[in-house]
Amino acid sequence: MAVLALLGLLAILLAILHFGRCRRPDEPPLDRGLIPWLGHALEFGKDAVKFLSEMKKKHGDIFTVQAAGKFITILLDPLSYDVVLWESRSKLDFNPYARILMDRMFDVRLPEYDPNEEKAMLRMTLQKPNLSSLTKAMSFNLRTVLLYDPSIASRQWKEEDLFHLCYSTMLRAGYLTLYGNEMKDYEDVASQTKDQAHSLEVYNEFYKLDRLLMKAARSSLSAGEKKKFDSIKKDLWELLSVKRLDGRANRSVWLDSYKQHLVDLGVDEDMQTRAMLLQLWSTQSNAGPAVFWLLLFLLKHPSAMAAVRGEMEKTLSRKQTTGQVHEISQEKLDSTPIFDSALNETLRLTAAPFITREVLQDMCLRLHDCREYRLRKGDRLCLFPYISPQMDPEIYEQPEIFKYDRFLNVDGTEKTDFYKGGEKLKYYTMPWGAGINVCIGKFFAVNSIKQCIFLFLTYFDLELKDPKAKIPDFDKERYGFGMLQPEIDVIVRYKLKEQ
Ligand code: HEM
Repeated sequence: MAVLALLGLLAILLAILHFGRCRRPDEPPLDRGLIPWLGHALEFGKDAVKFLSEMKKKHGDIFTVQAAGKFITILLDPLSYDVVLWESRSKLDFNPYARILMDRMFDVRLPEYDPNEEKAMLRMTLQKPNLSSLTKAMSFNLRTVLLYDPSIASRQWKEEDLFHLCYSTMLRAGYLTLYGNEMKDYEDVASQTKDQAHSLEVYNEFYKLDRLLMKAARSSLSAGEKKKFDSIKKDLWELLSVKRLDGRANRSVWLDSYKQHLVDLGVDEDMQTRAMLLQLWSTQSNAGPAVFWLLLFLLKHPSAMAAVRGEMEKTLSRKQTTGQVHEISQEKLDSTPIFDSALNETLRLTAAPFITREVLQDMCLRLHDCREYRLRKGDRLCLFPYISPQMDPEIYEQPEIFKYDRFLNVDGTEKTDFYKGGEKLKYYTMPWGAGINVCIGKFFAVNSIKQCIFLFLTYFDLELKDPKAKIPDFDKERYGFGMLQPEIDVIVRYKLKEQ
């Protein structure tokens, strides 16, 4: 009897939840899905591109879906993105959702602070005037990780998974650059050996965590996975404890400034350490996958590889193509339009962040073509530039194909004019986000990716083990979280060149 009553109550509750919200006049089309409360959460999480493309076909470029009790309005018209990107924080705020994710993924809970102030302060530490010292440190650390590994020195062919090779190289070198080295002298062999071992340990633990992070973000870890996730985090907190970091040499200005910012907020040491892991993810989870996709596209497209190699050899002096890549000046790093186009094209195809805002008050959204929609307080608003502009066939011919010169004009300068509905687009590709959420590490990331690819192409013979190997599909769970990762890896053979 009691069970029946309970079921009845549950049914009423579900019915209330199900029939509780209807579309009001002037609101975007509403699609709640068939399952009460859960709505479209499963399809959304499983493959956001497939799901949102189907919704776009059904409803057009703005619609609201229900997912796990939340109503999310999706806007897919790049001509209207500005309205969202620059709206005041009193109406559309990025921060509440970021705080939810910080807690779910990294157990980080910080006191209230002004995110714009924090961003402005940290931007200085990753851009000029600190960019040149970061770039130089990255160059040293890339060599420590990649060239001075004893297993490389033998000059024998080695087989490895390309994603693993790129992700570990970039994360280890990026970690050493931002979080510091064992000793001050980069050339000290004992210090290099310790840096190699320690950075590998950090990478190995981080990689295990990374396998579970998407599920953690969606609160869908099983009990067993949750236990494993918590234990990996504990190991990483040991490795990144602020006490341990304080003892490292060559710490970046970014690290010291971020730590000071936490101290100023009154955050205790445990929470500071957790924040250090969160930052390892925000600074290191994208550049490695970018190097992977770019190298893979170059290996699969010989004309692109030849063009990038040709430009590299022309740009770098002879000394640099035969040994001393660490001295590449910023001026030279900035003189590679072919490489830049190939990188932009790679990121167009493989960077898929959501740009998310919490709606803090009932408001009206006026789109580029003067359509007006009402948004409700408590809902979420989300842009997904991967569907449009990045993969939009109206903007890019054959958008699914890698064309290394897509972002080049015939005179070799950067192409920036792309159109939709006859109108020139301000946002034609958005791998770095935009507006107040733009990536503050972009310039450092581009320098680092360039240095890493140049190092691979200069020092190594590198080829696909199976030249016919297909470019793998994406791990579709990762849509919305930045750079995509492959569903399966691709094996390469590589060895140090005879110089
Ligand atoms: C290919 C490489 C990279 C890509 C595609 C990328 C992309 C992005 C995107 C899309 C965002 C905005 C996230 C959001 O608002 O939800 C972001 C934020 C951020 N990125 Fe990057 N990023 C890359 C590399 C880096 C690197 C190497 C660093 C630092 C060394 C870095 C530091 C940051 C930081 C600190 C933020 C947060 C900024 C904030 O507080 O809003 N990124 N990145």
